[in-house]
Amino acid sequence: MNVWFLLWYLASAILSLVGAQHDTNDNSHADTVSVRWLGGTPAYHTGTTFGLPWARGRYQAGQVRFGASANGSDIPLQSWVTAYWPDASVKWTGHAIAGPDNTYEEYAIAAHTGSNASTAESEPGLMITESETSVGIDTGALNVTFAKTGTVLISDIETASGKTVGQNGRLLLRSQSAFSELEGDTDQASIDHFNFESSIDNITVSQENSVRALVTIRGRHELASSSSGSVGHDPWLPFILRCYVYAHSEALRLVHTIVYDGQPDQNFITGIGLRFDVPLQGEELYDRHVRLAGIDGGMLSEAVQGITGLRRDPGEEVRQAQFEGRKTPNISTWDERVSSRMQWIPTWNDYRLSQLSPDGFTLRKRTKAGQSWLNIPGGTRAGGLAYLGGATTGGLAIGLRDFWKKYPTSLDVSNAATDTGEITVWLYSPDAQPLDLRPYHDGLGLDDFEKQLDALEITYEDYEPGYNTPYGVAKTSEIFIYGFDSTPSADTLAAITNHTNEPPVLVATPEHISQSGAIGTYWQPRMSNSTNPAAQTIEKHLDFNVQFYINQVEQRRWYGFFDHGDIMHTYDEDRHTWRYDIGGYAWDNSELSPDLFFWLQFLRTGDYDLYRFSEALTRHTGETDVYHLGNFTGLGTRHGVQHWADSAKQVRIAQPQYRKVFYYISGGDERVGELLDEALGAEEAFLAVDPRRKVRDANITYTPDPEAILLDTGLDWSGLAAGWLIELERQGPRAEEAEAKLFATMRGIANLTNGLVTGSALYNSSDGSISPPPNDPDNEGVVEMSHLTAVFGLVEVIAELADHLGDDLPQEFMDAWLDYCVYFGASEEEQEARYGEAFEDISLFQGHSRATAYAANRLGNVTLAARAWYEFYEIDGLGPDEIWESVELSNSSVLTAVDEAAWLSTNDLAQYGLAAIQNLALVGGALNVTYT
Ligand SMILES: *[C@@H]1O[C@H](CO)[C@@H](O)[C@H](O)[C@H]1NC(C)=O
Ligand SMILES: *[C@@H]1O[C@H](CO)[C@@H](O)[C@H](O)[C@H]1NC(C)=O
Ligand SMILES: *[C@@H]1O[C@H](CO)[C@@H](O)[C@H](O)[C@H]1NC(C)=O
Ligand SMILES: *[C@@H]1O[C@H](CO)[C@@H](O)[C@H](O)[C@H]1NC(C)=O
Ligand SMILES: *[C@@H]1O[C@H](CO)[C@@H](O)[C@H](O)[C@H]1NC(C)=O
Ligand SMILES: *[C@@H]1O[C@H](CO)[C@@H](O)[C@H](O)[C@H]1NC(C)=O
Repeated sequence: MNVWFLLWYLASAILSLVGAQHDTNDNSHADTVSVRWLGGTPAYHTGTTFGLPWARGRYQAGQVRFGASANGSDIPLQSWVTAYWPDASVKWTGHAIAGPDNTYEEYAIAAHTGSNASTAESEPGLMITESETSVGIDTGALNVTFAKTGTVLISDIETASGKTVGQNGRLLLRSQSAFSELEGDTDQASIDHFNFESSIDNITVSQENSVRALVTIRGRHELASSSSGSVGHDPWLPFILRCYVYAHSEALRLVHTIVYDGQPDQNFITGIGLRFDVPLQGEELYDRHVRLAGIDGGMLSEAVQGITGLRRDPGEEVRQAQFEGRKTPNISTWDERVSSRMQWIPTWNDYRLSQLSPDGFTLRKRTKAGQSWLNIPGGTRAGGLAYLGGATTGGLAIGLRDFWKKYPTSLDVSNAATDTGEITVWLYSPDAQPLDLRPYHDGLGLDDFEKQLDALEITYEDYEPGYNTPYGVAKTSEIFIYGFDSTPSADTLAAITNHTNEPPVLVATPEHISQSGAIGTYWQPRMSNSTNPAAQTIEKHLDFNVQFYINQVEQRRWYGFFDHGDIMHTYDEDRHTWRYDIGGYAWDNSELSPDLFFWLQFLRTGDYDLYRFSEALTRHTGETDVYHLGNFTGLGTRHGVQHWADSAKQVRIAQPQYRKVFYYISGGDERVGELLDEALGAEEAFLAVDPRRKVRDANITYTPDPEAILLDTGLDWSGLAAGWLIELERQGPRAEEAEAKLFATMRGIANLTNGLVTGSALYNSSDGSISPPPNDPDNEGVVEMSHLTAVFGLVEVIAELADHLGDDLPQEFMDAWLDYCVYFGASEEEQEARYGEAFEDISLFQGHSRATAYAANRLGNVTLAARAWYEFYEIDGLGPDEIWESVELSNSSVLTAVDEAAWLSTNDLAQYGLAAIQNLALVGGALNVTYT
């Protein structure tokens, strides 16, 4: 804790003592906040975590205790603080409730202060035992044992009745050394094939575990075998497996992350999996059950040795018991014509379901290796869950969330006719082509900056050899594992398939979140009752835009292993397709902040589909569009045909602000928290990558130096500042440094003669101090304006800095920012009078209208407020004359029926949305005021 924070803490502790006198006579007090399930009360849940925001000064950390109740009964609640206000009051909290027996429509979360606050936490619902070699967690419904070293991660899963239903949970990786370019030809001989298994580097266990425990396992994949015994392979593909376990739960939630650290022309992944052994010894073959989730709650229900459909009938009761997964009556009671011939009925040892496209899955089974596979009729989109078990031995179900959306994926049930069966969930299917991460073109002879900049003119791709690398990109997936004492009904498995794909989410109302001010005061809950027709029209347009993008994901099949979650950047009207194959127009990679728009619109509306869309977007953009290893760590890649193709590696894409809403409302998702930690290292990447290397005036000499890093005071600074603010809020290990750098950079930017209009500055990464840029060494005042400066989070980051710091925000910095806001859209004469010259080449006025609105609101300037709406409607962007409709195309001009809105690009979507939301909140009263 730094000095500044301590002072606030002391001051506020005194204030809070004074404040306590307002409490009830018995010196105790409880406020409650209601949380509800997004999208309705779930049929089933296995425990969940959520976040709640609190107003500044309301509850002092350490002097408040949280409790939960539903329908009048207390519910065990685990609570922790995820963010603090500067006065040490609680800003965000994380909470966990157990599952599955306390599913109510609504929960009241009470904050107890005064004498109530010291009441003991609820009884521990989880028992944790740790030894030299293992960690055991007893949920009451399951005993789970984690190994501390070796290749097995989860060594044992036991049900409450003592049945071991899962063992030797380990990760699998397969790869090959080359890509076979010749279809059907036999050039395989020169390709080496490798099998790897997980190898643990370390494991940590959460400290607070009354309702929820978290076990985090880190490691790499180590060679287990190879096709040519003589060829070795270093351990690679680092993984992080986060295992969440809730009290009373019969499930584990795994958050699985891998980081690609191979050479794309030498390390082709051919399978990534998680495998468990399922003990089946002692179970009759006809009492062993295989279940594979199909479509919309559908289920394949088979027995390893089927006794239905035979020429002779064992009896209806027997057939029904087998199909429903119950133990069959004793075989001595069956029709003898069947029971005497069991040895002639084949047993099905292996099953595989493969989803190689988002539109279809195939299914097959075989009696054993060496015998032919038999096709089972498949379908379109599999639920992604497999179960293997027995009527008496119990069994295990494993589900991969978004299974078909993350194709190519597979589920295997194997060795089901032996004593030890297996379930494998393949996050990358071995049935698919190898994962090919090589560049999509050969460089096209673009061997110097001049040619590369010229190519930018035509394909809009900013290419440079060596920069189009996937080295360091990541992917995170969610897996659920469920243990059962006996084979569950198909309906139960359908319900857990739903649960796997749409894990229930608890949230507070938009009103509570907004009133807390903890995620900005520049937006308001949607007023569905607004009587202003212009405001109603804006709301309709926002709804159109959101729904259009949600539909485009499906219509354009924006799915796939490294693609799911992302959206595209620009449309090709002639081909009626998004420009998926054109340089700088394809994957969006957060260009112009759609992430911020979708999350803000979710906060305003609490819309379920929008939440799911935004969650997938955040999971994708934070992982795959950003580097986590190597020289570019902490930077992201500009929009392009492959998520890592473009040579512009920038903080603006890694912008932590894009993860902030999800991070806090999820109760501090630990993987996203880690991405926020990584973002603090982004400034080091400037020493390896100079973002302006291709466009710098040859007369200016600049060599990256840790004490003088050239930063864009908008694009780069807003990314760094968002990370610092979050670290300060979290009071993380680098909070003191973050705070120092925040203040030093704000004061330093304010000290530039032209403030934020200067465009760039030199940043000293040891203390955050700022000096003038190389094009203005004497700080005489230069004007370097860009339309991009403020459209990657700058507006939102400064607004949240101001909300967080209050009066501590350096006034000179606020003045510099308000000048930027006022003059961006001012007349040329006004710009000249203030800065000596007019701004050139600026655009995106619609998006910038929110900066004008911010200044209008802050300065109480009604003329500026009217100007904000003028900029919103009249200059560029999505004007009022836009058709705001999509056209359905279903003829031979398109591959498949699609809706088209050729007038809408993602840049416009994002900037229109952010401006609309903020203008309504900040200058809504001036909506109908004419600007003159
Ligand atoms: C877990 O194992 C411990 C020790 O064997 C046992 O006391 C406890 O009842 C088990 N819990 C469950 C849920 O099986
Ligand atoms: C755990 O292992 C990872 C590599 O898998 C390493 O980066 C990290 O520093 C290790 N953490 C500790 C605490 O040893
Ligand atoms: C699964 O979810 C869908 C959509 O929410 C719902 O209609 C269906 O009833 C659910 N099925 C089960 C078995 O819970
Ligand atoms: C609209 O709804 C808000 C919040 O629900 C309420 O505060 C406001 O008074 C309502 N306005 C009108 C005009 O009904
Ligand atoms: C990192 O940068 C150094 C120096 O520019 C370079 O030699 C090295 O190849 C780069 N490493 C990777 C993985 O790109
Ligand atoms: C760079 O320097 C040269 C030689 O001094 C001069 O002619 C040229 O105008 C300068 N270019 C710019 C953009 O200042």
